[in-house]
Amino acid sequence: MAKLKILKVGDETLRKVCRPVDEITPRIQRLIDDMIDTMHAADGVGLAAPQVGVLRRIAVIETPNEGLFVLINPKIVACSKEQQESEEGCLSVPGRWGITKRPMHVKVKALNRHGKPVEINGSGLLAKALCHEIDHLDGKLYIDIAKMIEGAR
Ligand code: NI
Repeated sequence: MAKLKILKVGDETLRKVCRPVDEITPRIQRLIDDMIDTMHAADGVGLAAPQVGVLRRIAVIETPNEGLFVLINPKIVACSKEQQESEEGCLSVPGRWGITKRPMHVKVKALNRHGKPVEINGSGLLAKALCHEIDHLDGKLYIDIAKMIEGAR
């Protein structure tokens, strides 16, 4: 159990494309545990491995309604045409928020932490979080697509 340092926007690591995980080793399991602890400590909805300096395709998400997801090598396999426009933030962009347009529903295929294939049908906040975290694995940040909200809150 450890809290990891979260890299901030401007760090080049956040702009790199992550490599798939080919074997879920004890080291990967420890990383997942540490990412969950780090997400909880920072009160975030999601965290992707590049945010803690690891260029592998791993993300964790926790929403109030759906609970905790550990995603290894996640892929969006379907997106609704229906969109949602809502507020979005990122632990790597502290103190700022923006409005993004994201699909209202997405279907994601991934492996869970035991290497078992899983399919997640996310709507609303979960769909937004899935898109946001999978973008991180490709070096993309929500600020690339958001209309930023000016001023502190
Ligand atoms: Ni983020």
